[in-house]
Amino acid sequence: MAEHPAYPVGLRLSGRKVVVLGGGQVAQRRLPALIAAGGDILLVSPTATPSVEAMVDAGELIWEKRPYAEGDLADAWYALIATDDTEANIRASAEGERHRVWCVRADDADAATAWTPATGTSEGVTVAVLTSDAKGRDPRHTAAIRDAVVEGLRDGTLVAPHHRTRTPGVALVGGGPGDPDLITVRGRRLLAEADVVITDHLGPRDLLAELPQGVEVIDAAKLPYGRFMAQEAINSALIEHARQGRSVVRLKGGDPFVYGRGMEEVQALAEAGIPCTVVPGISSSISVPGAAGIPVTHRGVAHEFTVVSGHIAPDDERSLVDWPALARLTGTLVILMGVGTIGKVAETLIAHGKSPDTPVALVQEGTTAAQRRVDATLATVAETVVSAEIKPPAVIVVGEVVTVGPHPAK
Ligand SMILES: C[S@@+](CC[C@H](N)C(=O)[O-])C[C@H]1O[C@@H](n2cnc3c(N)ncnc32)[C@H](O)[C@@H]1O
Repeated sequence: MAEHPAYPVGLRLSGRKVVVLGGGQVAQRRLPALIAAGGDILLVSPTATPSVEAMVDAGELIWEKRPYAEGDLADAWYALIATDDTEANIRASAEGERHRVWCVRADDADAATAWTPATGTSEGVTVAVLTSDAKGRDPRHTAAIRDAVVEGLRDGTLVAPHHRTRTPGVALVGGGPGDPDLITVRGRRLLAEADVVITDHLGPRDLLAELPQGVEVIDAAKLPYGRFMAQEAINSALIEHARQGRSVVRLKGGDPFVYGRGMEEVQALAEAGIPCTVVPGISSSISVPGAAGIPVTHRGVAHEFTVVSGHIAPDDERSLVDWPALARLTGTLVILMGVGTIGKVAETLIAHGKSPDTPVALVQEGTTAAQRRVDATLATVAETVVSAEIKPPAVIVVGEVVTVGPHPAK
């Protein structure tokens, strides 16, 4: 058998009986894919790992708590033989052979009639990698090949030029806080496939340098907007490029719906009848504190965190924020766009009951090479912003969580 290469095939197991012998680590690893394939799964094993038990409890397979017995494979289409009893595995293999059931053997690839490839998926395509013969089997190597292919497809470094499915219309992509590694896999792939990218100043600017030649990159801040508002100019640029049949990515910092005006763009595109897909991003409100060693919640310290915009000062009549209510909260306050107003914010919080000693951290350009953290208290923060020359973009964290991490408080 070993002299010939294996013949690759995709088994359509939906509604068909699959027998799994042994409920250990091998079964635990293989069961999710068998369940996803819709197999009618019978597990035969005296014991099972807690994860396998959880799948049984969820009704995803039937478990008979006993050792393998002759006849178990009689009406199966496919079997995974993975008990820790070699003699039972040999007997089960022989039964599989007699009933012409393709059997994978966890303990002896050479004696198996089927091999499990290393698999991964990307956007509806399954990549399956097999070594051609049992002697050359090197599971780590096949897994590494699978990883390279799947990762390449996901991040767009491996492009299938003529047959890739491109998202028509506009993709509103959250680019994360700035570090180019912190965009989602889907966001990165859409970016790699885009014809036009309309971008803001925040977010992963380094990724723009990696775009293939010929991709048009438009800085949203530089769009001529004449009698339009800036946002309307962006909306019409999105619509115009999409109408020309181009794949447009609207790249935003953090998450598109956290102070990102993302829904305004979704609404404008819907009105224009342009398909739009939204790809969430990692918001700076959680990730920037985290990158600076500050958890927004911590057991026994903060049971809630509130994200608030500081772009309008508390004494401004346009403010929609209930600052006195925020002053009464015991949890963490995360303030975005607050560098210019933090003095007034701190004053208001103290006036409504927050201790002047409440710790505050200012994290500028979080997750980038220029990241900087400066600590203060509510009483000193206005002065610290000036003396430390804190500039936007910065996230301001107010609360006891600031001091729980190993970062030395300044
Ligand atoms: C218009 S809001 C956009 C927020 C974004 N949609 C998000 O989810 O992170 C811009 C504010 O986010 C914060 N911000 C975004 N990226 C940041 C970063 N890398 N470091 C510090 N603050 C950041 C700053 O407070 C900045 O003024």
